[in-house]
Amino acid sequence: MISPAPHLSSVAPSPIKLRRIGAFLGAEVTGVDLTKPLDAATFEAIKQAHAEHGVLVFPHQQISSEDLKRFGRMFGELTVHPFSTSGKEQPELIVYDNKEGNPPPPTDIWHSDETFRECPPMGTMLCSKIVPEIGGDTVFCSMTAAYEGLSDRLQKFIDGLEAVHDFKPFKQLFEGSEEGWKRLRAYEEIYRPVTHPVVRVHPVTGKKSLFVNPQFTLYIKGMEESESRDLLDRLCRCVNMLEHQYRHRWEPDMLVFWDNRFLQHAAVHDYYPQRRMMERVTIKGDRPFGTGAVAAPEELRKLKAPSVMSFKDRPKRQHEL
Ligand SMILES: [Fe+2]
Repeated sequence: MISPAPHLSSVAPSPIKLRRIGAFLGAEVTGVDLTKPLDAATFEAIKQAHAEHGVLVFPHQQISSEDLKRFGRMFGELTVHPFSTSGKEQPELIVYDNKEGNPPPPTDIWHSDETFRECPPMGTMLCSKIVPEIGGDTVFCSMTAAYEGLSDRLQKFIDGLEAVHDFKPFKQLFEGSEEGWKRLRAYEEIYRPVTHPVVRVHPVTGKKSLFVNPQFTLYIKGMEESESRDLLDRLCRCVNMLEHQYRHRWEPDMLVFWDNRFLQHAAVHDYYPQRRMMERVTIKGDRPFGTGAVAAPEELRKLKAPSVMSFKDRPKRQHEL
């Protein structure tokens, strides 16, 4: 049986008021005014609640872009998304202004933000300015609950596996010209494919979670391609468990601060051509780490013949030095 998040009565008295809004993730935070700098106790309470509940919803926060950036910076350095629509003056602020003629970007695929980076962001803050009358929800899933929902056998099997991620959904932005091709090559040099553990350990809570997603994960390292594909499909389907989700309905002037270290999310693109305007900042994270286990290569792949790469004296190919 998977344990939901602890009841708030077990949490020490806090300067903020928390109300759980989902069984496995999500809490509403009141008793705080984000137009003003926070005191240390309030900041610590929010930081702890963020790691425990994953999605923090701050309703009725009529804040400026400066307030949003200041609040974000309390948790770490703000990062600049390399493929976003942010302006040159304040690149750390992303403005999504989706309406007729500017449909939403492909954020309706389940993901954790920017896992194509060596150090993906620890958290993302999204603040609603204009919301559609119908639709435009964001759905979150606890990947800790997803991991805990797997059988012991499958948990043991995936412990120590690593997966390769890259920025594949953004590559289409460069299509169509020779200049685009050159720029893509330059970005591929900056953002080379990165390896992350399949089972990630949360740096604050110590809980394990599944850390592969259909948007950025390419394959499981060291496995036969067909086995890797089957396993990734199986693990990525875990987000479909309704019990492990929280679906957020936006109202104007809401700030939602989520933890990318153990959640995935997907935006529901059902509102176009209604207008939806949001502001976002993203906070730099640490390099993800796993349990310390490493899967032995010989357990991951059975070759029909020995790998050619294992013979040093073989004839060299044309590209080899
Ligand atoms: Fe996202």
